[in-house]
Amino acid sequence: VVAAAFGAQAADFPAKDKVITIIVPFAAGGPTDRVARDLAEAMRKPLGGVSVVVDNAAGAGGSIGANKVAKANADGYTLLVHHIGMGTMPTLVRNIPFKVESDFEYLGMINDVPMTLIGRPTLPANNFKELQGWIAQNKGKINLGNAGVGSASHLCGLLFQNAVKTDMTPVPYKGTGPAMTDLIGGQIDIMCDQTTNTTSQIEAKKVKAYAVTTPKRLTTPALKDLPTLQESGLKGFEVTIWHGLYAPKGTPADVQKKLNDALKAALKDPDFIKKQEGLGAVVVADKRSDPAEHKKFVAAEIAKWSPIIKAAGVYAD
Ligand code: MLT
Repeated sequence: VVAAAFGAQAADFPAKDKVITIIVPFAAGGPTDRVARDLAEAMRKPLGGVSVVVDNAAGAGGSIGANKVAKANADGYTLLVHHIGMGTMPTLVRNIPFKVESDFEYLGMINDVPMTLIGRPTLPANNFKELQGWIAQNKGKINLGNAGVGSASHLCGLLFQNAVKTDMTPVPYKGTGPAMTDLIGGQIDIMCDQTTNTTSQIEAKKVKAYAVTTPKRLTTPALKDLPTLQESGLKGFEVTIWHGLYAPKGTPADVQKKLNDALKAALKDPDFIKKQEGLGAVVVADKRSDPAEHKKFVAAEIAKWSPIIKAAGVYAD
């Protein structure tokens, strides 16, 4: 009877009177939150007009929110939007209370997002060369904002410190939304953050912008004049953030299919694409929107980042 009931429940998914909650494992107002809210908007119609809301469960570099979903009812009504952290947490955070590769159903990937190296508006450096000089003169006194160990800004900050051979003081926030407020206020000096969060601040000249982390320059008007870190002398420096959609392990297969179909419809939604591209993000248009490819991609990212992080010699307990 239970199986039949469960089956029936899956058959009428999503029920009109229920709410689908997308958990964002970082504070509101940051890049992950931005992607999730745009996606929730774009998935509503393909899911028959059901209410799709975003709930921020921040902390511990994104692992608290991810764990909340890993332990949620596997009924399709609690989902997770997370980023490259699913590829780096297994290496960076020794005691995460879940397994990235076996405690989630993979529902497809959403986008790829470049990162930018930015500084407080009062930083006395107006290009990357001057920033390098400032870093050399201020060793031991530099505060680097991030969203906690395991976050995208933490990963990029780690790679950057290694590339410029300078340890900086990490200042963790519950997301780079709140971190950005302190950077603009001058409380922290620099940060590596996703264009979904930095483009508007760079346009408004609220922060100083030094470089992008992609191998090629960006075409977004506000970012197109920024050099890449590679052309600025940091050989091989490359980090691009990506986002995926997840459900708890054991979510019924036909519920997963409906969610993946709605995701694919959202990825083709001109309004969603316009919003994301306006912030420098590139919406997935390849097979990574298929769950099997999504799962393969994350496994490859775990394998890719593990030696790079270990070479950087920083772990978190
Ligand atoms: C990160 O650094 O992981 C993200 O920017 C965190 C966030 O979305 O706030």
